[in-house]
Amino acid sequence: MLSRREFALSLSAPLAVPLAVHAQGKALQARIKIDADRRVGDIDPKIYGNFAEHLGRCIEGGLFEEGSALSDKNGYRRDVMKAVKDLDVTLLRWPGGNFSSNYNWKDGIGPRGQRPARLEMAWGTVESNRFGTHEFLDYTEALGIEPYVCTNLGTGSWTDAQQWVEYCNVADGTAMTKLRRQNGREKPWGVKYWGLGNEMDGPWQMGHRTAEDYGKFALEAAKLMKWTDPNVKLIAAGSSNFGAGIDWVGWNREVLAYLKDHIEYLSLHTYVGNAANDYYDFVAVSNQLDDRIKTAAGTIRAALGGARPQKPIYIAFDEYNVWYRARGNKERGRKILEEHYNLEDALVIATMLNTFVNNADTVKMANMAQIVNVIAPIFTNEKGLFLQTIFHPLQLFSKNTRGVALETFLDCPTYDSKHFGKAAYLDVSTSLKNGAVTLNVVNRHLDQDVEAEIEIQDGAFQGRFDVALVTGPDIKAENDFGKNPVQTVTSTIAPAGNKLRHRFPPHSYTMLKGRLA
Ligand code: AHR
Repeated sequence: MLSRREFALSLSAPLAVPLAVHAQGKALQARIKIDADRRVGDIDPKIYGNFAEHLGRCIEGGLFEEGSALSDKNGYRRDVMKAVKDLDVTLLRWPGGNFSSNYNWKDGIGPRGQRPARLEMAWGTVESNRFGTHEFLDYTEALGIEPYVCTNLGTGSWTDAQQWVEYCNVADGTAMTKLRRQNGREKPWGVKYWGLGNEMDGPWQMGHRTAEDYGKFALEAAKLMKWTDPNVKLIAAGSSNFGAGIDWVGWNREVLAYLKDHIEYLSLHTYVGNAANDYYDFVAVSNQLDDRIKTAAGTIRAALGGARPQKPIYIAFDEYNVWYRARGNKERGRKILEEHYNLEDALVIATMLNTFVNNADTVKMANMAQIVNVIAPIFTNEKGLFLQTIFHPLQLFSKNTRGVALETFLDCPTYDSKHFGKAAYLDVSTSLKNGAVTLNVVNRHLDQDVEAEIEIQDGAFQGRFDVALVTGPDIKAENDFGKNPVQTVTSTIAPAGNKLRHRFPPHSYTMLKGRLA
């Protein structure tokens, strides 16, 4: 466990002194009980992943800005690298997204000056190809992040996918490995995670197919990829969309029927929003996420014969975020998707992360879409960057919610949301690692504290507990360059025995972390 000082330093610029947070009169009362023996499953660090697509200013102008004083000799923005490191990103998916469905990876290797510029039809722009396989894999290697490459199963061929694995993972003895060496990389990178296409269920996708056509096509790609490197783990394009009228369960069922013996993960995507400006409905949206996860897990179990499988298939939520304001925003004719996040978005992200942790036995990978500028926690201009509101919960989870997920008993007042059923004012997850317990608590109430009695069932609290609070002056507060009303504020408390009382301020996310005796 981190020392108190290390804990505070590990967060991006935490405030040492709590903001004045309005304890409004009488608090609602709640009870939380945890028992170290009641385990949901191991939390896979890969649930704290992100995603970098060739889209808007995510790569060019985000991760990578050649010629900038802020960049290193490779063109990587040093300030962005630091923020990515501070975020503790465990896994990075690339190159798309929709972009991947017409991407020819061979355009992005070799001397940068000789790479072809191509028309990019997913987002209506021109792709320079100056950032390609080497630039991506060297970036993840420099930062100690696990790379995840999504192949083109839209317009691409089985051979394209197979040769990409060969180029990245086979040591020597073939034309592909010779090419890699000529391009300056002696050792293979050994990329473990490979996507079998992106959102193939969507008509917006280049090379969109029916579930049956996709299942057959992806199966042959999967065979070739695994015969090239048996260590690769494959992620099938499951349902990308839970919208009305889409048979998302049917898509997953059909895809699993073809791919179940060849994949390790089924990918799901979700983007949520508050277009109706209904705060209480919006902050209850994780109820839907939980339903989707449990439904998909059931579909997987049914596909595997209704039994506990020898070789499980896990869920990879490899795109999730709040995304609704910047659906189509453009800059000089190209889509840029630059969403500015506020406090309510950060609370929703904390509830989504709670949901992944509470389903730790089935969700073993998740990627916030994306990493920089494009619907992202980090936002740059040519002079620097700022951290969006959603950065803070993701950072706190990634740094502190590891180990094993525990079941959390919650007794708390509820409200009826418009679309997502009953929601408790508190939303909670608990994890345990090496004797240190972490509780993540969102208070959804707009203007009232919720005071909770937190009880450890079989043990006691030991020593001081770290408290990290993310809130702000109001739910619409946004961060910007030089202005950070929403950030992480740290303090400590000293619980005694096996019960502690804590007041969770309205519209806030709190992380409590300390040791159990
Ligand atoms: O993340 C933005 C886009 O959203 C991705 O390219 C696509 O997969 C999804 O629809």
